[in-house]
Amino acid sequence: MRVVLIAGARPNFVKIASLRRALSGRSGMEVLVVHTGQHYDDEMSAAFFRDLEMDEPDRNLGVGSGSHAVQTAGVMTRFDAFLDEVETDMVVVVGDVNSTVACSLTAVKRGIPVAHVEAGLRSFDWEMPEEINRLVTDRLSSLLFTPSRDGDENLKGEGRPAEAIHFVGNVMVDTLLRFREKAAASTVLDRLGVVAGEYAVLTLHRPRNVDTREAFVGLLDAFAGIAGRMPVVYPMHPRSRRTLTEAGLLERAEAISGLMMTGPLGYLDFIELEGRAKLVMTDSGGVQEETTVLGVPCLTLRPNTERPVTITEGTNTLVGTNPDAITKAAIGILDEGYKLSGRLPELWDGHASERIADIIEDYGGRP
Ligand code: UD1
Ligand code: UDP
Repeated sequence: MRVVLIAGARPNFVKIASLRRALSGRSGMEVLVVHTGQHYDDEMSAAFFRDLEMDEPDRNLGVGSGSHAVQTAGVMTRFDAFLDEVETDMVVVVGDVNSTVACSLTAVKRGIPVAHVEAGLRSFDWEMPEEINRLVTDRLSSLLFTPSRDGDENLKGEGRPAEAIHFVGNVMVDTLLRFREKAAASTVLDRLGVVAGEYAVLTLHRPRNVDTREAFVGLLDAFAGIAGRMPVVYPMHPRSRRTLTEAGLLERAEAISGLMMTGPLGYLDFIELEGRAKLVMTDSGGVQEETTVLGVPCLTLRPNTERPVTITEGTNTLVGTNPDAITKAAIGILDEGYKLSGRLPELWDGHASERIADIIEDYGGRP
């Protein structure tokens, strides 16, 4: 049985690292990794294959950046050509990026079953391109692997058949737990000159936060207030750097005392930095999950989340994007601390990928 595993963007590489390992260990299963090329800078892509001890992808479709339509259509055309060439029994997609929906649609129209890892998550926010990608991918997939029980409920509510839905846990957590010890050897704190427990980490890349000057200016005001109290390390996503540069805000951001802007960090450096922070502020999906497992308080700078278990069972608080609310929440944690619940979401135990491999093995490939 030949399984093609799709990855296109930074969080996908973290997710497939554990899946590829689990699937490749099965007898009679050949696993190929197709990288769509959605992310392509060394620090957004190749660095993850090195840090995660992964062989290079078997194919890179080289799609690059573009509008949603250009990028999605580009992946579809190129993946279709790949499938002409390489007989494939199942396509496994992860997450909610444009590459995920593009490859799902291409495969399913050719009669190839699709398995979606991280199925069922919903923000119920149609302004997020990811919400559209999630809904469409789930509708197209024959196997729906959910990371949390809310995912099962959402899928059932949308009429997906119960036998297609498998609650397996979280593959991003598999990778985090596997590499946490290795990451402890990272020298990132020394290199940045910060002390464990005495700094905050910030990541931002949602269009709503970083695509307009107006939104970004408000956030910078909040970060200035927080960075006055404690260093804030901000590994910048290329999307944010683009807006800061184009809107003429880069100098203003650089002038904020205590705000330490870096390029995107490699995975091992990042999880070490994240795990030793006093506080994390983010609009990332994966970072909400990782902070829950690492026991670090997380403020999510969004009006909603598709990962509610990180709030109910984890360390996440939804604070929205109002600068005063962000400052108040952050300073509250600095002054009063944060009480950990000691709970972890069910099945976030490092073995989700093995459960997925078991189910894929039983399912087989094309009917
Ligand atoms: C994408 C995903 C988002 C995910 C994020 C993870 C979609 C719709 N969005 O957002 O769900 O959370 O990845 O990081 O799929 N760029 C570079 N170098 C790169 C990649 C991108 O400079 O290697 C710049 C380009 O200017 C590009 C912009 O970043 O136009 C946005 O990239 P894109 O892949 O379209 O979306 P992300 O914001 O990265
Ligand atoms: N990450 C990283 N370096 C960084 C920022 C994030 O290695 O500078 C990792 C992080 O640990 C997590 C993943 O990237 O595993 C999250 O990706 P991102 O926030 O880009 O996407 P999302 O999860 O929001 O889709």
